[in-house]
Amino acid sequence: MTAWMSGQRDDPTPCRESDRNKFEVVARDGCARIGKLHTAHGVLETPALLPVINPNIRTIEPREMWDRYGIQGLITNSYIIWKHDDLKQHALENGVHDLINYPGVIMTDSGTFQSYVYGDVEVGVEEIVEFQRSIGVDIATMLDVFSRPDMTEDDVKQAVETTIERCEASLKAAEHVMLNGPIQGGIYRDLRKQSAIRMGAFDFSIHPIGGIVPIMEKHRYKDLAKIMLATIGELPPERPRHMFGCGHPMLFSMLIALGADLFDSAAYALFARDNRLLSPQGTYRLKDIHSWPELVPSVVDWTPEAVRKLNDEDRTALLARYNLEITLAELSRCKQAVHEGTIWQLAEQRSHQHPALREAFLWLTTRPFPSGLSSEFLQDLVQDDRDAAREHHPNGGIWETDWSQVVSRQAIQRKKGERWGGEDTLSRPHIITARAHLQHRWRPSSTGPTDVLVLNGKPGPWRQRCDLLVLRLKSVLPELEILVQTPLGLLPYSLEDLNPFAQVDGPTWLWKRRLNTVLLREEIHRLHINADRILILDIGQDSLIQEASTLLIKHGLLEEPLQVDDSHLPQLRDDLRRRQVVDKLVVLANVSYSEAVDLVESCTYIIGGTGRVKNVIDKHGNHILSPRLADGGLSITDRGSMTIYGRRSTPVLDDKEYDPYAGSGHGPPLLVVEQDAVEFVLRGRNVFHGFIIKCDPWLRAGQTCFIVDEHGTLIGHGLAQCDADEALRFRKGIAVRTRSDFSKTFK
Ligand code: GUN
Repeated sequence: MTAWMSGQRDDPTPCRESDRNKFEVVARDGCARIGKLHTAHGVLETPALLPVINPNIRTIEPREMWDRYGIQGLITNSYIIWKHDDLKQHALENGVHDLINYPGVIMTDSGTFQSYVYGDVEVGVEEIVEFQRSIGVDIATMLDVFSRPDMTEDDVKQAVETTIERCEASLKAAEHVMLNGPIQGGIYRDLRKQSAIRMGAFDFSIHPIGGIVPIMEKHRYKDLAKIMLATIGELPPERPRHMFGCGHPMLFSMLIALGADLFDSAAYALFARDNRLLSPQGTYRLKDIHSWPELVPSVVDWTPEAVRKLNDEDRTALLARYNLEITLAELSRCKQAVHEGTIWQLAEQRSHQHPALREAFLWLTTRPFPSGLSSEFLQDLVQDDRDAAREHHPNGGIWETDWSQVVSRQAIQRKKGERWGGEDTLSRPHIITARAHLQHRWRPSSTGPTDVLVLNGKPGPWRQRCDLLVLRLKSVLPELEILVQTPLGLLPYSLEDLNPFAQVDGPTWLWKRRLNTVLLREEIHRLHINADRILILDIGQDSLIQEASTLLIKHGLLEEPLQVDDSHLPQLRDDLRRRQVVDKLVVLANVSYSEAVDLVESCTYIIGGTGRVKNVIDKHGNHILSPRLADGGLSITDRGSMTIYGRRSTPVLDDKEYDPYAGSGHGPPLLVVEQDAVEFVLRGRNVFHGFIIKCDPWLRAGQTCFIVDEHGTLIGHGLAQCDADEALRFRKGIAVRTRSDFSKTFK
């Protein structure tokens, strides 16, 4: 019988002893991750909301949370249990799971929040952790010191220090039980960082971000974003991050996009008691509701009017269910967005729901001034603008480094088109990364002054419309750089099918927009083109070749119309194809330009039905590469990986100063695995965490990497599931999805 028919759900299966307390990431979108925390009371899938249960007032029974809503974990307060003799007795005798009648994962808090609300608590630092252990909680919390936003910097510093001083004793008292190590630091970036770095050095299982309740209550979402940005990058990546006391669904997408894994909140019950309805669009008052903002199961049989007439207890119970269902639905939406790679788009949509959230979102994603500002530029600004500019300046702008960590974690190529969402689209982190990759890796064929022709006015694919024109232009003006103007920026013609540039879903006028001359020059400069004359050709016109001739003659690039002598076309077409493969190797596989040219020079091609390159064949007849039609990417075959790796002369790099944007030219990153894993990888099995010895610093989730053994022999290649800093730290989960099977290819 299914759960909904019986109204019951089976109790969880305890994880394997060896997996207990381990966290693995199973899917991701930049910093956002779908994870699994393995516990004695089952798996807690993240992102998750742990509803707060007050053992004295149960608005919704914990068992119902398990049975009806499938909630895998909740949080209750050990201090409240400890203070009430009957609760304490029951918990000590039968355990906390029995006390609250819940079979899933139970996290407990320590009384810190009570000390923030009511002043001091009477319990000792070790005492409260020992108590949590003795009642059988899955995840305990140490007694941290709450840092309020109104505290002076010195007082906050003291709160951070005292919390750190308590770590050792707390961890000792916890023994084998997972322990939360909360991060404090108020609104001070350095203190948050200090707290994250120093707490992260202890053996905690989870890091909650504490002291944020008063910030959220006052809608100071920009401060919340700053706290996240300051903290997340400093924490050990293999531990879940929990937002203490955060349960408003409106905030989930932005916080998940920044790396939050867990939320807890009493909001569903507190708001219900106050006749308020939660929603990802903000909060509603029951008295204003004519029609349910979302028709969730708890209210399908009820009108708002009928609910208003209920007695207090029944109304609170019904609204609490409504709020919980809404909260779970938004969390589910966020998870789907992470799987789809659209979590920042969801955050962008949600940001419109509250002015303070919009402010936070814009603060994160948009730069008021271009980076690399000169001091003269700064002097010309009014004071406010100068402060804003400094805040984002890479040298003086303290937040730029934190934000660039978020940006650099983005997987660039997506399977789907990019939905245009207004100018915000250009600030999506993966778009910033895609542009940065292109601009840092791609190189024009000539470094000298070159004329540039920008094709403008129509969405792709451009090859059908423009290939003939481009080939004829190349026959008379071989040095001319031809670029395509996309809504996401300029794209070299050789990369005209590259996702996301080539696949923007938006109104057709987007392709007709023209950049002003200054911005156009700036964009071209970013592609390292030393532009002489810049011409823009509207490719929406019918007689394209004629229009192009007229334009080029007018600007003195041609003296007479383009002659139609197509005898060179096959050779020129071959050159263009070669250039396409070279540029993809450079931009997508991080191969240096000269290596790529050398590699591709002696290759031949198999052309598909659409006239595009299907397979690239080396001089020995081996199929080494295949351009992907769906996303303009490049698949490397087993033989291809051997060929590319064979050209690499450096071992794994250990460059702490590595610039995540800059291609090093060393090809796909290397990942060195332990001998135990070698025979499995050779047979095409995935690489698991725990077997990795080292890797190149440019390893990024979603990109191709090469797998080598300890002696530097290539044993496979695949799609990385983690970034370099995570490869060595995670203890569970897949690190690389292997795409090769050397046991068959090299029999
Ligand atoms: N609940 C909400 N905020 C906090 C915090 O900062 N620390 C602890 N322990 N619990 C909290």
